[in-house]
Amino acid sequence: MTRETWATRVGFILAAVGSAVGLGNVWRFPWMTAENGGSAFLAVYLGVVLLVGVPGLLAEFVIGRRANRNPVGALRDLSGSRAWGAAGGIAVVAATVLLSFYSVVGGWILRYFLESIAGLAGAAPYAAEPGAHFSAISFGPSAVAFHLAFLAITGVVVAAGVRRGIEVATKVMMPAIVVLLVALAAWAGTQEGAAAGFAFLLGFDLGTLRANALDLLLPAAGQALFTLSVGAGTMLVYASYVGEDRSLAVDATTIAALNTAVGVLAGLVVFPLLFALEVDPGAGGPGALFVSLAGAFTALPFGNLVAAAFFGVVLLAALSSSISILEIPVAFLVDEFGISRKRAVAGTGALIAVTGTANALRPALFELVAGPVVDNLLALGLLAFLLFAGWTLGDDAVAELRSGAGPIAAALAVPWRYLIGTLLPVFLAFTLLSALGAGRVVGDWGVVGVAVAAVAVAAAVLSRARTRSAV
Ligand code: TRP
Repeated sequence: MTRETWATRVGFILAAVGSAVGLGNVWRFPWMTAENGGSAFLAVYLGVVLLVGVPGLLAEFVIGRRANRNPVGALRDLSGSRAWGAAGGIAVVAATVLLSFYSVVGGWILRYFLESIAGLAGAAPYAAEPGAHFSAISFGPSAVAFHLAFLAITGVVVAAGVRRGIEVATKVMMPAIVVLLVALAAWAGTQEGAAAGFAFLLGFDLGTLRANALDLLLPAAGQALFTLSVGAGTMLVYASYVGEDRSLAVDATTIAALNTAVGVLAGLVVFPLLFALEVDPGAGGPGALFVSLAGAFTALPFGNLVAAAFFGVVLLAALSSSISILEIPVAFLVDEFGISRKRAVAGTGALIAVTGTANALRPALFELVAGPVVDNLLALGLLAFLLFAGWTLGDDAVAELRSGAGPIAAALAVPWRYLIGTLLPVFLAFTLLSALGAGRVVGDWGVVGVAVAAVAVAAAVLSRARTRSAV
């Protein structure tokens, strides 16, 4: 069986942007920005996207294109070591866990989209009491039903394959998303009181940034990985369908730039609306934003129509991402066990249907999975990719990055290798250890010390193992 590839140059970029742009931009980014004080968070987040996100994205690209395999097969085949294959398994697990909560949120969006359409003929079901409505539908049997429906749509696209399914779907979805978001942002900007929203998002304030930079770093890092689809092997698998003649560095930069632009664009829809209605954007977590936006649409002129457009866009964005998440366990099963794509979709879909149902019934479980569990799995997955590309692939990673690249990327390839081999793993190890509460035992600087030591040991072991296998 020959492996599928993208049909067109732009197909890969659009699919990767489609993966990156999702609930992370439209739902999680405004929520995180609100919770962490607005423009200062935006500044730190942009920094992390550039310094951690893009190099990390490149590590996944380099591994994926070199191996033409899923994360497990890629790490195992390139190193000849089963242990590395197991490390690649972290990503497959991360993706499966990720989709089991993502699909629940996707289900909410699907429901709000349908309810907004119903609202065109009168009032949307959420209109009277947005808060009570969201609490009533977010967890329980109907949340399960919509989770299953969302997952089924995702499964149909992935089962259709890389060219006919993923590429075609994202080629239609991405332009639609951008056009609708621009129109929505223009509409939001004309609402009375919108200016305060612009100031909140874009009004750069060096004072708050200085005071909070460290506190902002961890949530900004989590958000940067999540939004760029880094750490679970999505980008690795998508790059495994790419030819050698493309500049991965150019593609990664383009993807990060487009993704960030859409995130900011979503912010330009959300914040002006919240401020126009005098809703405190920082109050009350992920559901609250849902609630206040639905409320905002109901209160404003042409609100029903706009609500349908808005939830339609979010639904498309969520689908083009969930497709990319399901593709990881599917590629794993297809590559490693030679089963058909349709069977692989049915098998992983059944598993995620069950785990997602648990999330849709248990809010406490959902919050644990959607927050810390996924954040740490992504950090762990990326840590494995970085150490692998930086030390086990080493010179080969540099060569792979240079393949198809222009002079600038070629010159940056060696600095990139050391960045992903040293500083970034230390940073990720630091966030992981901090999340485990190590700071309380040895202090923050102690954690930095442990992270540096751990990465130094890993680098020494990996580069020696490499020399041995090369001999
Ligand atoms: N980036 C997507 C979003 O922002 C979600 C996503 C898709 C993802 N694939 C991923 C997140 C892989 C982490 C890893 O909604």
